[in-house]
Amino acid sequence: MPVSSNDRTARVTVFAPRIDELLRRYRGADLFRLEDDTVGVAGVELTDRLLRARPANDAERPTFKPVRRRSVTRADASALMQAVSADVRNALKRPLDDSVDLAGKWPHAAHVHLRDLVFGHESLRFRILVDRRLELTPKLTWAAVAAGTAMLRKPGVEIPLSNLAARVLDAGTYDDRRYAMYLYRRVAAPVCFTVSALVTNALWLGSPFDDGVPNRDILLEALRLLPPSWNILRVASPEFPAVDDRIGGRDDILMFPLLSHRDPRLWEDPDTFRPQRWDGLDPDQQPGYLPFGHGSERCWGRHLVMPLAERLLDVVRRDGLVVSPEQTTGRIELDGLLEVAGVRMVRR
Ligand code: HEM
Repeated sequence: MPVSSNDRTARVTVFAPRIDELLRRYRGADLFRLEDDTVGVAGVELTDRLLRARPANDAERPTFKPVRRRSVTRADASALMQAVSADVRNALKRPLDDSVDLAGKWPHAAHVHLRDLVFGHESLRFRILVDRRLELTPKLTWAAVAAGTAMLRKPGVEIPLSNLAARVLDAGTYDDRRYAMYLYRRVAAPVCFTVSALVTNALWLGSPFDDGVPNRDILLEALRLLPPSWNILRVASPEFPAVDDRIGGRDDILMFPLLSHRDPRLWEDPDTFRPQRWDGLDPDQQPGYLPFGHGSERCWGRHLVMPLAERLLDVVRRDGLVVSPEQTTGRIELDGLLEVAGVRMVRR
């Protein structure tokens, strides 16, 4: 089926009504009230000052918030990140597999591929923890963790376990194993969820990509227009009214990279997908560009995310996969991760 670069301009992204309203009303605004007890912030300087005012607390950390009231120590958190980094590094060492076929519905197809690539050799009780269906309810996750922990026997030494799973098997007591297994889910699942979301967004925005445009620039531009982490929450605390007196002592704050990434004061032609704008630019030095959070506390996973996402793009480009020309609408729901759902990838 012939596909031209005009197909990408024919595509329409439909945001959930609340996100659409945010974009229409507050783009270019510094601070605005969203609810009686919540203010929104999109101004570059104000965001910077608020995020510097204090470190994120336990409740604000998606990955390492407490597990059933048990705090995750800094030492545990960094050991887990080291374990998953080693797993990702091992996966990336493998050559691109000719038998991989990423045609089909994204982000699902990408998620399954990443799960097999990074955690594929794991037994079912671990693999299930990276399943997309567990997102439906936290209770399901808890049930999968409890069932997996109860079944747990150390597998024979011939079964190669990921570094992450090995941590679970090394835990001494049932409670420790359950805790470690829950953390397995917290750390392994985002590798599949966030990377598949990011690359799906990139494909939706720009496929088919012009030859010669580096994957890095495609991903940086996708992170600008459709940042999977589209808001950053800070709960009310005394540091914030001290930064700006429009913020009350009981106001939670939602900061919106989604808005600053499209602020016309910061970006030329802000709504257009133009990966070339990143040629020679350092993303860490671009005011208002916060896809991985603020300099003081940037995402711990970003060094895993980018090479995995580039690898997915390598397969897509190698195999000539493109968004089906028949699909002209992509929907983004009001959800944890900002991602275009159900993108159909076909061979050119
Ligand atoms: C497209 C992929 C990703 C994006 C866009 C992203 C974005 C972010 C952002 C915006 C923050 C700052 C949050 C804040 O200041 O409140 C953050 C923090 C963090 N990210 Fe990521 N992230 C991604 C993938 C990952 C992955 C795969 C992991 C782990 C394997 C991870 C682990 C963390 C951790 C540990 C933090 C520190 C806060 C916490 O404990 O949760 N991220 N990320």
